[in-house]
Amino acid sequence: MKKLLTLLLTLLAADICAAEKPLIRIHTDQTDLLYRIDDQGRLCQSYLGPAFRSPEDLRLLPAGDEAFTTYGSKNYFTPALRLTHNDGNGSLQLAYVSHETRSAADGVTETSILLRDEAYPVEVKLILTAFERENVIKSRTEIVHYERKPVTLYEYASSMLRLGAGSYYLTEFTGDWAHEVNKSERRLDFGKKVLDSSLGSRANMFCPPLFAVTLDGPMSETEGEVLLGTLAWTGNFRFTFEVDQNNGLRILSGINPFASEYSLRPREIFRTPEFIFTFSTGGAGSASRSLHDWARRHQLKDGGKDRMTLLNNWEATYFDFNEEKLAALMDDAAELGVDMFLLDDGWFGNKHPRHNDTQGLGDWDETRGKLPGGIAGLVETAEGKGIRFGLWIEPEMVNPRSELYEKHRDWVLRYPNRDEAYFRNQLVLDLANPEVQDFVFGVVDRLMTENPGIAYFKWDCNSPIINAHSAYLAEKQSHLWIDYVRGLYSVLERIGAKYPDLPMMLCSGGGGRTDYGALRYFTEFWPSDNTDPLERIFIQWGYSHFFPLKSMCAHVTNWNRSTSIKFRTDVAMMCKLGFDIIVKDLPDDELQFCRQALRNYNRLKHTILDGDFYRLVSPYEGQHAAMQTVSADRTGSVVFAYDLNPRYGEQLPSVRLTGLAPDLRYRIREINLMPGQNPRIEHNDRVVSGDYLMKAGLKLFSTDRARSVVVELKAE
Ligand code: DGJ
Repeated sequence: MKKLLTLLLTLLAADICAAEKPLIRIHTDQTDLLYRIDDQGRLCQSYLGPAFRSPEDLRLLPAGDEAFTTYGSKNYFTPALRLTHNDGNGSLQLAYVSHETRSAADGVTETSILLRDEAYPVEVKLILTAFERENVIKSRTEIVHYERKPVTLYEYASSMLRLGAGSYYLTEFTGDWAHEVNKSERRLDFGKKVLDSSLGSRANMFCPPLFAVTLDGPMSETEGEVLLGTLAWTGNFRFTFEVDQNNGLRILSGINPFASEYSLRPREIFRTPEFIFTFSTGGAGSASRSLHDWARRHQLKDGGKDRMTLLNNWEATYFDFNEEKLAALMDDAAELGVDMFLLDDGWFGNKHPRHNDTQGLGDWDETRGKLPGGIAGLVETAEGKGIRFGLWIEPEMVNPRSELYEKHRDWVLRYPNRDEAYFRNQLVLDLANPEVQDFVFGVVDRLMTENPGIAYFKWDCNSPIINAHSAYLAEKQSHLWIDYVRGLYSVLERIGAKYPDLPMMLCSGGGGRTDYGALRYFTEFWPSDNTDPLERIFIQWGYSHFFPLKSMCAHVTNWNRSTSIKFRTDVAMMCKLGFDIIVKDLPDDELQFCRQALRNYNRLKHTILDGDFYRLVSPYEGQHAAMQTVSADRTGSVVFAYDLNPRYGEQLPSVRLTGLAPDLRYRIREINLMPGQNPRIEHNDRVVSGDYLMKAGLKLFSTDRARSVVVELKAE
């Protein structure tokens, strides 16, 4: 009896103790991330998964394991944080101090959790922002200390997440120039898998900061638990996936600390970039839609605004143009019916004119011989034809054959005592240096001041950092990789503040920069220089897991001319549509087709770019692909179906549509037909219920190579 009483009293005491300890709930409409404090006072992650219906249930969960592990504490795996104190001691043990939650905006809450070491004056804040409706959580860290001299940081993750399941699958999206974001999947077993980049400026040439982890099975579009994650950082990143001896998975995300130990002065706050993730129980499709909604509402520059169609001259002329040629291309742009003409590389440099990619970068004056009327003249010509004018720049770079290099070698990243190594004949400017930041800001500022009619910039970045030495940073070379990105952000911030309505395309030799840190300042990005439509289907498919179609530029070009203009246009039309072809060379029927496709696009742009996006049939699983967008009110939808390289006599299943309102009745219309071409799909021009379309589907595929169908659905 006495024993029972003691046991009851002990249990009661434990319960009171647990009840007194805070439970920190990071909550969206679909996800809960819970933290509790254990008996040693450490912050522990108690849960990450589908949201609980009643908050009372949360206390039933075990406290869990340490949420943000440090080197020098009882932790057997890669720490989230490692540093060395003034006395050379490398240990850190963080205890929970306090937390606060505030409403940051309608439907957005920010929770800040303060941790402190008891032996050394070091504080760490974990800051988590939950977007309730969009089901997205952002996580970042602030590190500060009050020691007498600088502390050196060696590991500084933005986020550490723990997941528990029977098995884990990682989907990654790696590649290279012209074959970006190839999707591949592997099971994660004991040990570490790392995805990272150490290329600096063109950081994502091989690997973008994008991943999916699925629990208890491979990734599916429509089913299963999946976490999509990405880092908002335009530089070196690292994701570490580590499975421990108990089959628990930790995901550490942040800046890649490789060659980047950071000396932190007393009271200086080290702010990590944001890790962004969404957790879905409905497969990758719903997770992507969450990220798309979140990006359009909260992250992508002008995510809620319209986008311009354009004609770019890069593939039409490369460096070989003059005012007459450009005026003719602007006529073409107007005839085609696009909103803007975009002048690409090759318009600048006088002492070293930019006739090819070996010289001129850095000298941002119009080449007088080539363009006597300057940019001002071109803007005027474009406006006279009723279109806008956009301009290519690559302001972070310099050719050794340039006046800038001759004048300011100290502004260039290069080893003072070694031969320079080049990538595309160029070098990277030292954006860690405030003078260089002023120069780069000045490139845009001067162009805009002299030519306020410039309506758009394409900001390119063709070289990774390969001569990683900054004259400005002197003995703090290991700060370069971080300070470069901070310098870039400071420039972009200034541009955004002075020219808030200026749309800009983020480009980096194709998809060498694709991250949400940059997309705060850019309205769209160039996914790849590869515009072969058969390849683009895979590239657009890959990026669509993380980025809304609105942010992805897709141009109709002459890559793979064995495919029809219709096929090329139909592929580009699922994103932010542009053209880069010699319009004059188009036969009459093709020109008519393009004009009509542009009219269709303008009519449907809102549904395509702002609607809910569904990946219906994967090009990775056969020789066909289908995607669909549905307007927010579900009264309109556009379906894109592509045949790649089908087998003879292949069976062709119907494509079940999705996201429609079952009770609404939709008129089905095949659009983007070549002049004289008859619609090929079944039920064309009939009115059919959403229910039927989602259950029986539509026959959209064929056994023809590189054939496409675009279908418009409109509720009546
Ligand atoms: C690389 C880009 O990806 C291309 O679109 C083009 O702008 C060239 N640079 C120009 O040099």
